[in-house]
Amino acid sequence: MQLIKLSATDSTNAYLKDLMFNNILGDFTVVMAHSQLKGRGQMGTNWLSEPGKNLTFSVLVKPQDIQVVDQFVLNICVSLAIYETLSQLQVPDLKIKWPNDIMSGHSKICGILIENILSGQHIQASIVGIGLNVNQLTFNNLPNVSSLKLLLGRTFNLEELLLNIVENLKGLFGNSGEEEQKRLFEVYETKLFRKDKPSTFTNQDNEMFMGFIKGVSSGGKLKILMEDNILKEFNLKEVKLLY
Ligand code: BTN
Repeated sequence: MQLIKLSATDSTNAYLKDLMFNNILGDFTVVMAHSQLKGRGQMGTNWLSEPGKNLTFSVLVKPQDIQVVDQFVLNICVSLAIYETLSQLQVPDLKIKWPNDIMSGHSKICGILIENILSGQHIQASIVGIGLNVNQLTFNNLPNVSSLKLLLGRTFNLEELLLNIVENLKGLFGNSGEEEQKRLFEVYETKLFRKDKPSTFTNQDNEMFMGFIKGVSSGGKLKILMEDNILKEFNLKEVKLLY
């Protein structure tokens, strides 16, 4: 594994993508930044992180044979790799909030931004960006955000944590068979935040509705059992979980 350490960059995802287009990089090349100046989050949001306190890094993954229609399995592998690392550290009440936020109780501790490079119907490469709140203690009054130090009361070595996550990623991305992937979906579903609990959502028109999270479809849509007992599937733009 090649580890590139930067003191500052706009976004490790953007840096790694640029590097990949201009060089031949090995599988699991990692770029980590002490300080990210324009960190990117899901759906065009920003990712803010105090310099030197947290993990902000991106990993290049070159999946063997994953079709574009099956790309959600990448989200599953990444979420489970981080889940495994954090569960070894005994982070309390760990859950995965669909599609791939890692939660402890009601607080988000890790965000994931996966950007896929396609070649026809296949995933040619995937830039897996991970922002894990580690040693930061204050979050500018952001609600429902926490860090490992706030949760576990000690300071963590960032590079050690990063290597542990990358090892878990390598293990999970090795599971390429159909049966193995089916099993990963099942494991992921057991760890879903608010699964089978009565929950409130908003739709694209900002209308509230009630439902129960039941799982994810093979395409990665969230399956919600609606009040009229019909199971509906939603993509990321179509639904927001409120509580
Ligand atoms: C989210 O929850 O919205 C996803 C956040 C992803 C943040 C990470 S930090 C490292 C990598 N580089 C970026 O610009 N974003 C990801």
